Amino acid sequence: MSTPSFSARVLKWFDKHGRKHLPWQQDINAYRVWLSEIMLQQTQVATVIPYFERFTARFPTVKALAAAPIDEVLHLWTGLGYYARARNLHKCAQIVVKNHGGEFPVTVEELAELPGIGRSTAGAIASIAYHQRAAILDGNVKRVLARYHAVEGWPGQTDVVNRLWELAEQYTPKSRANHYTQAMMDMGATLCTRSKPKCEICPLREGCIAYAQGNPQEYPGKKPKKALPEKSVQLLMLRNSAGDLLLQQRPAQGIWGGLWSFPELAMDVAADDYVSDHFGEVVEHEVWDSYRHTFSHYHLDITPVLIQLAKSPQTIGEAATHWYNPHQPDALGLAAPVKKLLEKLAQLDPRASIKPIAKLRRKS
Ligand code: ADE
Ligand code: SF4
Repeated sequence: MSTPSFSARVLKWFDKHGRKHLPWQQDINAYRVWLSEIMLQQTQVATVIPYFERFTARFPTVKALAAAPIDEVLHLWTGLGYYARARNLHKCAQIVVKNHGGEFPVTVEELAELPGIGRSTAGAIASIAYHQRAAILDGNVKRVLARYHAVEGWPGQTDVVNRLWELAEQYTPKSRANHYTQAMMDMGATLCTRSKPKCEICPLREGCIAYAQGNPQEYPGKKPKKALPEKSVQLLMLRNSAGDLLLQQRPAQGIWGGLWSFPELAMDVAADDYVSDHFGEVVEHEVWDSYRHTFSHYHLDITPVLIQLAKSPQTIGEAATHWYNPHQPDALGLAAPVKKLLEKLAQLDPRASIKPIAKLRRKS
């Protein structure tokens, strides 16, 4: 026997497991559906229930809400947050009374023109209150559909959300669209959850591509991270005649604040010239491979340069300095990349000559 259609499976699940006793599922009308949908936009069901009860007790109709002073509306909204929702709610009620004779319009298009009502909320009102074949695409439905079809990409992107809307429209059945809408929200909230979806008991398991791939949690795709800016720097590993390495304490502000690090030099300055000007005669130098260290706000490409000095300069610049013996390390707070470099340096035979390089490469 072939698998029943997508919507048939969803509806069958709804009959057995769907929520049917929420307050806005009783005495259903457009006003109550609209009010619940607005309240549920950024808020959990359990939180919304007592607010919905108080609101509908005080304002049983859209006319009663429209006639109320905004202060009273805001007062009843206190604790739900996102107060723009409450202002739009009141404004919307007044438009429904003024322009639509106190009845919410019936088409998705007209509903979506009202303040605070987007395409998905319009679809929920049209399907649940007016039994129309109108699709919804809230966060729960996006997740179910993105997984079922393994739709790649972040739904904040137009092509991705358009594809999801296409699927949402395609699956919404002509009959029982009200139950289908509620079922999709319930399945997203209870089965196809963000983490650890209960695929084993999901009626959509057959045909679900993400399930077959074994990676439902990868859908929907995440917002792409902004590319971090890239900076690059040379870290000067200055070694004196005793084999100790010069560390400087970083300023308290900025990266590695207060930690000990190697002197830092812009990429476009020749390290050998700079060091002989500031620290004395350079015997040999060696440029190590660059590597990337990533901070929360940028990538830092580090080029370590090992420089053998002829002597051991006394005082250098304004920063606190320390000659560090990599073979008998002192307890210092070290910047993470510096710690790694010191460990590498400790593995070098201090008597071995570092490879002389004719001219230190300039990088830009
Ligand atoms: N979230 C948004 N609309 C809902 C509804 N009708 N039931 C449960 N959760 C919802
Ligand atoms: Fe979601 Fe799993 Fe069901 Fe696919 S099988 S729709 S991933 S719960």
